[in-house]
Parts: sequence; C-alpha cells; structure tokens
Amino acid sequence: MDQPHTSPASLEPLLSAARAPKLPDRIRAAGQVDALEQVLAAANLAYHQDDAPDVTDADYDRLKAHLKRLLQAYPDLHQPRSVLDQVGAAPRSGFAKITHARRMLSLANGFDPQDVAEFDAFIRRYLGLAPQDPLAYTAEPKIDGLSLSLRFEGGSLVYAATRGDGEVGEDVTNNARTVADIPQKLKGTPPEILEVRGEIYMSHPDFEALNSAQTKAGAKPFANPRNAAAGSLRQLDATITAARPLHFFAYAWGELSEPLAETQSAALARLAALGFATNPLTQRCTSLEAMLAHYDLIAETRSSLGYDIDGVVYKVDDLALQARLGLRSTTPRWALAHKLKAEEAVTQLEKIEIQVGRTGALSPVARLVPVTVGGVVVSNATLHNEDYIAGRDSTGAPIREGVDIREGDWVTVYRAGDVIPKVGGVLLDRRPPGTMPYRFPKTCPECGSDAVREPGEAVARCTGALICPAQAVERLKHFVSRAAFDIEGLGAKQVEAFFHDGWVREPSDIFALEDRHGPGSAEALTTREGWATKSAANLFAAIAEKRTIALARLIFALGIRHVGETSAALLARSYGTWPAFAQAMDAAQDQQGEAWEILNAIDGVGPVMAQAVVDFFHQDTNRAALDRLLAWLEVEPAQAPQIDDSPVAGKTIVFTGTLERMTRAEAKARAEGLGAKVSGSVSAKTDIVVAGPGAGSKRTKAESLGLTILTEEEWLSLLDG
Ligand code: IVH
Repeated sequence: MDQPHTSPASLEPLLSAARAPKLPDRIRAAGQVDALEQVLAAANLAYHQDDAPDVTDADYDRLKAHLKRLLQAYPDLHQPRSVLDQVGAAPRSGFAKITHARRMLSLANGFDPQDVAEFDAFIRRYLGLAPQDPLAYTAEPKIDGLSLSLRFEGGSLVYAATRGDGEVGEDVTNNARTVADIPQKLKGTPPEILEVRGEIYMSHPDFEALNSAQTKAGAKPFANPRNAAAGSLRQLDATITAARPLHFFAYAWGELSEPLAETQSAALARLAALGFATNPLTQRCTSLEAMLAHYDLIAETRSSLGYDIDGVVYKVDDLALQARLGLRSTTPRWALAHKLKAEEAVTQLEKIEIQVGRTGALSPVARLVPVTVGGVVVSNATLHNEDYIAGRDSTGAPIREGVDIREGDWVTVYRAGDVIPKVGGVLLDRRPPGTMPYRFPKTCPECGSDAVREPGEAVARCTGALICPAQAVERLKHFVSRAAFDIEGLGAKQVEAFFHDGWVREPSDIFALEDRHGPGSAEALTTREGWATKSAANLFAAIAEKRTIALARLIFALGIRHVGETSAALLARSYGTWPAFAQAMDAAQDQQGEAWEILNAIDGVGPVMAQAVVDFFHQDTNRAALDRLLAWLEVEPAQAPQIDDSPVAGKTIVFTGTLERMTRAEAKARAEGLGAKVSGSVSAKTDIVVAGPGAGSKRTKAESLGLTILTEEEWLSLLDG
C-alpha cells in the first residue's frame, strides 16, 4: 500500500500538541482526546478498509502515542470503544503489540547438582516440608528456541504472541498459523479460554538446509538454529514463515478459564490430548537423585536429539504447591533451569583489547580467530579482568595452575547458555615462540585518564567519569537498552553514531532529536547514510512513544551503579512516583535521618546500593541532566499489585519473631502480593508489626512508638477479611 508523503494540514494542531514536552491541563486534554479518537478512527478506516491511508505512519503513531499519554494522565477521559482498546489491530508498521493476559516468565538458572539440591531445599523450606516428606518434580528438556503464547477461545486459535518483554509481545498470529505443530482447532473439550505456552524451534537438518539456501541466494546465513527460528517467525510476510520448517513444543500455559489438571505432568498429558506436541523426554521424578539421573540421561541424548537444548527444567509437579510458591519479579519460585555444560572449542587469540563500560570498568576482551562453539560462531570472548589474564584469582591464588594468557596463545573457548563466551584454558604446548605476558593498561585507552584499582576490587576503573567518551556512550546504550527505554530503531549502533557526531550526548538529547534533526531542519536525519524518510519518521515516533515511561524503567535506565532491573523495580514500588523518589533521595543525602533509614530498610536494598543511589542524586551534573530529561517525560507511577480490595495495600509491614503457620519468605511474598511493603526495620512509618514468639527489640520499639502489633493469627484473619 502506498504511503502518503504528508498528512492533511488539518492535523497540524494535534501534531504540535503531541510534540509539546508537557501535557495540557484537563480541559484542553479532554478536547484533544475527542479529536484524537475521531482522527485515529477515520485513519484506521481509510487504512484497513479502503486501502488508502491519508495519514503518514509516523504521524499516526505519534498521535496514538499522544492519546495514550493523555489517557494515562487523565484515565477518566478514556472513552468506551476507544481506538486504544482495539488490541491486535493490523499493524501500521511492523507487528501489532499484544499485552499478555498473564506475564510470560523466564526461569532461574542452576549450573550444578549443588544448585539443584539447594533449589529442592529452598522449596521444602518455603513450603515447610521436611527433607523426607514426599515431593515430586517434573524434569524436561529446555528447548533452545523462542517462546510463544497461543491463545485459544472456544477451541480455536485467536492469536499468537512472542514473549517480548514478558508483558507485551508481538502479534505473530498469521505466521504461527503456518506452523504444522500449532493446531488451529483443538481436539476434545478444551477450556473456553486457554493460553498455551511453548517453544518454537528449528531442527538441525532444517537449519543446515536453510543456511545453504541462504548462502546460495547471497543472503547472510543464520548463526544458530535459534536465530533462524526467530528470524523465520518474525517475518512480516507470512508466506516466508510458511516456507520455513518450524516446530513447536508446548510446556506451560497462561490464562485459563478452568484448570487443566492438578499436576504439571497431568497438564502436559492434557495438552498432548488437545493436539499439542509435548516433549517425550519429560519425566516425573520423586527424588533429587532421580532428577539428576534424568539430567544425565538428557545430557547424553543431547547430540542425537536433532534440535538444540540448553538445559533441563525442573518444575514442582503439584499445581496447588506451585500456586503457594508463586512468582519472583520475572521467574517462578517453583521451577529451575539446570543448564547443560557448555560446549568448548579451541582457537587462537589474536589480540587483547580493553573495553570501557558505563561505570568506567576496564574489561579485557579476547579477539579470536572465529570458531564454532556448539553451533555458534564466536570471534570475541571475555577475559574477565587483569588477574584472570595473569592466572590468579581475586585472592591471589593461582588459576589454570598459574598460566597466564597471551596474545598469540591457543585457547579453549566455551559458551554457557546465553552468556558471553569465555576464554577457559591455555594450550601451553602450542604457545608460539616470542609471546609476551600481557601488560594491563594503567590509563584508560579511551580518554587517557588514570585507571585505578581500589583495594579489594577486581576491576580497574577509568577515573575520567565525565570526560570519558566511552563511559558516556555506554551510559547512553544502557539508557536505550531493552529493559530500560527500549526504543525501537535506536540501538547501540545508532547511539554510537549519534554520539560520535555530537547529536546525542545525554539522554535528553534523544528526545530533542526530532526538533533538531526532523524534516526540514538544516541537519536532517534523512541526510545521514542509512536513513530514509520512513525510517527517520519511525524513529521519531518510537522515541515519542517512550516519553511515557514506567518509573522502574526510568530508574533502571539511569545506570546507577549497583541498581539492576530488580532493584530498580524495588525502588519504584517502594516510592511509587518519581517526585517521591527524587525528594527522598535528596533528603537522604547526608546519610542519616529518616529518609536514609527508610531507604536502607527496603528489603533488598543494602548499604552499598543505598549509598550509590544517594551519591548519584548528590552530583550536580547528574541533577542537571535529570532535570533536562524529566522535562520530556511523563513518568507512570509504579503500581502495587492487587491493591483494590486488599486491607494491607500500601501499608508497611515488619515481620519479627517466629512465624508458625508459614515461612518468613512466604509471608513476605503474600504481603507484597497484596500490595503491602515489607520492611526489615521498625520506624514511625511502619503500619503493622507482626510479632511471633521470640520477638525482641523490634517489638519493644513498636510498643514504644505505639504501633499496631498483631499476632500471626490476627494477621492472617486480617488478610482473609
Ligand atoms: S517453563 C513459567 N519449560 O526457557 C515458566 N520454559 O530461560 C515458563 N524454555 O522463557 C517457562 N524450554 O522460553 C519452560 N521446558 C520448558 C522450556 C522453557 C525452553 C524457555 C522459555 C523460557 C526460557 C527461560
């Protein structure tokens, strides 16, 4: 379908409202919402029914993003049958987004039998089971493909969505319909609503055949079967997917209108009866020994399976126990992925280079003669740090029997799951003559500042924080990364190029890109190599869309040392809104007093992280850059889960003493699930102290502050209403 070059001039007032950094007041917003609903509905009609769009894709996306922002700020303006509720509408560009009815999770990893034993011990502790109490798990191969969610209603496939960020995936329904293992209609009597989750993968023979066809056609071959499967499923043209042989194993589910079964194993059998392929190597195990024996069996079978697997997944079999165990932020407590040993290869190390990270850490990287490791071509691998190269660990004890790693050495390279390849050992007998021990630099290779290794630290850091271009560009790459702002079309490569030319020096510059380099500007993006009208417009629209951002993503994006994705989510949930968070960090600056204590009392925040966050806010340059950034953003408050009808929503709870009806971990998870905050220390901000037998100083403090103190029984009856 042809795209119009420009949108009608009548849209200009709405477009300029969409470009303004600040949102309008409520009255103006109401007018804009009305107009946007009309314009977007008309544009949809013109696009889908008449095949004659009158608004450009970029303007359409910009207007839609603006409507979303307005409704987030003024939810009561949401109209019935809003264009925003038409989920899964045909995509204007790329794939439509689908919000998963239940989040798509990932799995916690274990690497050796000890980790599996700890997993079992943890589950038992959490559930209050003794080591000898019976407890069954399922063990099944972990397929190395990409996960897919299939929604069936009344037994018919309604849509298929990729995992995306776990909350929102891409609508790949048309493509999924071409996969033979995915039934369009289910057999038997399925639940009215059934979301089946599983893995799309490509077999080894099909992968080889596809790659030789790619090479013959002059196209780039895929690096491994997983990339080939992902590339094949995510085709805008479903006929291409249809021509690629993809397979699907079902292993889990999302929303259900009625339970599938009482156990994981019975649920899998039910999925098979409904018409899905389930993995034949799935086994129910009633002991740790049986789990590990099944792992060994799968490991031995690995090379003859004909498809890639990268681990064994153990799941608690009893679904009622799964429900009790519940979820962490992105993984279920009741499952563990036991990774298979990495496959190794030998190659020559050509050169050692130093990369400077966003916190200034100097990381040595091995440039290798390319080699295939477990189906993947590897040409770079990490060397960890100075000590690792020198052949000693952080305590000075020898590793590799003290053998150092040199440029020119023959080395073993291995991959463990998804992580970056690593250099393992050195083949000393193949060491070429004339090699020299590697000398770790004393200055930053990017900005020349001193590189300093603090006592007790494994890494050397560049001291040129604000002048070091490498740190600045890495901070920007982090800012746009997937778990942060995740701006489509703005990846590491583009950020580097924009930084290099001075277009983007700090995060706020990203949002100013359209004003400075949009159509008609002296230095338009379209004049750069690789950018055309459409791709530039798409980029501006993608940036505009991210002007509304979740608090947790924003905190994570700032790249504060020690604040990862989970900690950012924790801080967001604890403070709720950006102003509350920023003010609290200001108030905590002198590292004493109430704000500082509250920060440290957040379960999961230690003194090192607390100090890093406060230090970050303390720096004037950071504050100024933050002010410039925040002027562009609408920050969505963090939501406490299930708060509507919970008697403890928003309350701060402290558990102390022994709990008799459930473990501490379970109590904490349950309280948080009901929207409460669980803190480790008692203060005037505490709402309820749940005190079991043996409660000591916390109880005394609570009494002196006149706080509500409940027994475990009273607490449980409060929850049960
Ligand atoms: S269960 C609620 N079972 O591994 C748990 N996942 O690293 C949902 N995967 O995102 C996952 N084989 O894409 C499960 N037998 C299996 C699996 C499996 C592969 C993938 C899945 C998940 C990823 C986590």
